[in-house]
Amino acid sequence: MKRMRLDRFLSNSKVGSRKEVKTLIKEGLVEVNGITANRPDSIVYPQSDVIQVDGQKIEYREFHYIMLNKPAGVITATKDKHHNTVMDVLDDKFKSLDLFPVGRLDIDTEGLLILTNDGKLTHNILSPKKLVPKIYFAIIDGVLNKNDIELFKKGIPLSENYTTLPAKLDIIGPDRAYITIYEGKFHQIKRMFEYVNKKIIYLKRIQMGNLKLDETLSPGESRELTESEIELLKSSVD
Ligand code: URA
Repeated sequence: MKRMRLDRFLSNSKVGSRKEVKTLIKEGLVEVNGITANRPDSIVYPQSDVIQVDGQKIEYREFHYIMLNKPAGVITATKDKHHNTVMDVLDDKFKSLDLFPVGRLDIDTEGLLILTNDGKLTHNILSPKKLVPKIYFAIIDGVLNKNDIELFKKGIPLSENYTTLPAKLDIIGPDRAYITIYEGKFHQIKRMFEYVNKKIIYLKRIQMGNLKLDETLSPGESRELTESEIELLKSSVD
């Protein structure tokens, strides 16, 4: 049976940060099976113990799934000495959840980034074998043409020994398009456009697998996925 520290249980359940939940325990506000807890490091069994804070039962959720509309200017990492990271822009209530990003977006790329503590789902989504589509919106310095569509369809050589899988280029204006790719190579879309002699001036991820970015989230805003969105995400790798 799963066991964990009481302070971790409480912070994973979004009661507060590790520091805040330690204070709650010290103040005698936390009960485990009806007995006041006095140690943050005491071991609890989340599936069977009844844990209450100030008389309120805390429901345990093992996994959390957060959607962030990543703003430009932050890097996709959990810590960095030089730049702000996606963790810095996350809503405070998600900061204690031990989340990590599912894949990467470049510092200047915006859009859909999932953060979760579900390692198995992350692994599946990022597995090259699962061929999970990622859809981006791009604005280009240049004019797109039918030949670009054909080249993307064939796969673009990124180096001497690597050509991308066939990708879809949907041109929606002279300088803008949706691009669907099935891998996540370093600067992949920028390099694909470089190959057709075009430069990206704006890039935003709008979909990952079956899950779409909630366009009501402004860059920098985050929220928990709904149950049906979690199912959509999981259905991308079934
Ligand atoms: N391709 C890129 O070039 N950059 C990203 O951030 C994502 C895909």
